[in-house]
Amino acid sequence: MSKNLPVLPPSSGDDGESTRAVHAPRPAPPAQQPLGLPTYRTSAFVFDTAQDYADVLGDRAPGYSYSRVDNPTADAFALGVAALEAHGLDQPVGAQAFASGMAASSTILLALCSSGSHVVAPAAVYGGTYGVLRHVLERFGVTATFVEGNDADAVRAALRPETALVWTETIANPTTAVADLPNLAAVCREAGIPLVVDNTFASPVVCRPLHWGASLVMQSATKYIGGHSDATGGVVVGDVELMARVRAARIDLGGNLAPDEAFLLHRGLLTLPVRMARHCATAAAVAEALADHPRIERIDYPQLSTHPQHALAGKLFEGGSEGKRYGAILSLTPRGERAAGMALCDGLRVGKVATSLGGAHTVVSHVASTTHRQMDDAALAAAGIAPSSVRVSIGLEDPEDLVRDLSQALDRLPG
Ligand SMILES: Cc1ncc(COP(=O)(O)O)c(C=O)c1O
Repeated sequence: MSKNLPVLPPSSGDDGESTRAVHAPRPAPPAQQPLGLPTYRTSAFVFDTAQDYADVLGDRAPGYSYSRVDNPTADAFALGVAALEAHGLDQPVGAQAFASGMAASSTILLALCSSGSHVVAPAAVYGGTYGVLRHVLERFGVTATFVEGNDADAVRAALRPETALVWTETIANPTTAVADLPNLAAVCREAGIPLVVDNTFASPVVCRPLHWGASLVMQSATKYIGGHSDATGGVVVGDVELMARVRAARIDLGGNLAPDEAFLLHRGLLTLPVRMARHCATAAAVAEALADHPRIERIDYPQLSTHPQHALAGKLFEGGSEGKRYGAILSLTPRGERAAGMALCDGLRVGKVATSLGGAHTVVSHVASTTHRQMDDAALAAAGIAPSSVRVSIGLEDPEDLVRDLSQALDRLPG
């Protein structure tokens, strides 16, 4: 007799057809761990007793009650990111997954700020983060100072007694400016406030900000972590006490990560180091090949010795057997005005004109007309962005095809 054939014992009883349909028997949970991650595609979990339910919901006992509160697939994903971000730290870290990068960012801000709080952030901060600070939190009495660059002295000068946190981005969008994390962390430590780092452009494979003194690290998992442009999510890792506040705010606000998305994003983690190494190596090859192109005014990429924070990036960024990784976002500035940047995008065959970044496909966006469209030329200049700049997210295609594609589009630019 097979030990593993599902067999329904002879059954009798009064249960009707619909009750039997709803309460169909299930095998006991397997004793072994599955190799792949199970997707707990359920909104609710069952308890043996009413007291067990009360204890889990009251956070007095471990367990799961409702997937807006916690879900095992989402937790597995968050822990996977923590294992990359925090390995080697001498303190434990908390981790939480979110429905998007913006759900993560807005929840952090709402968890750590109150009416009257003040936030310091870079002038070139991601537009969504800027939007939450200016369009949402300002209405509730939270103010923000946006400082030029990632300079620790400028941040120190912007601090006020009511400053609740300093926000920065490891690699800025689209300038690729690299944040001086150790000095920013020192400024925050002196002031007794958290340093929150958006590590989306780097991923934990390029930089691990907790090791440089950050209190919390968030990322849009929609980008490199997911890696295939097919799932949306966010994740935050860091100081356990702060993370308990972030979790409480997440539960109240409802920006939890759905189990199916958690499955996809967790699957992305399995290949993140391999993909990231390839993304970075290709980006370096492309930057080097195009640096002397006659139609290029400048290329911003931290690996180039001409990049203002090349040395800092060399200190902060991780390496592997293939060498140091400098990320895979290039800012290409062709000679000319806005039209030159748009024509460069339109001239590509392999690279696609699309939003987002960090996936297998190389995608480009003309910065002044898309991600930074709210800024006029003067504001763009203040943020260090030329009217013609194009952000290139280097994908996983063959490097020589990308060099050929970008070169021919540059060759065809007028003038
Ligand atoms: C640097 C950065 N942070 C946060 C986000 C927000 O992430 P999401 O789109 O997953 O909400 C983005 C999205 O482009 C981003 O580029």
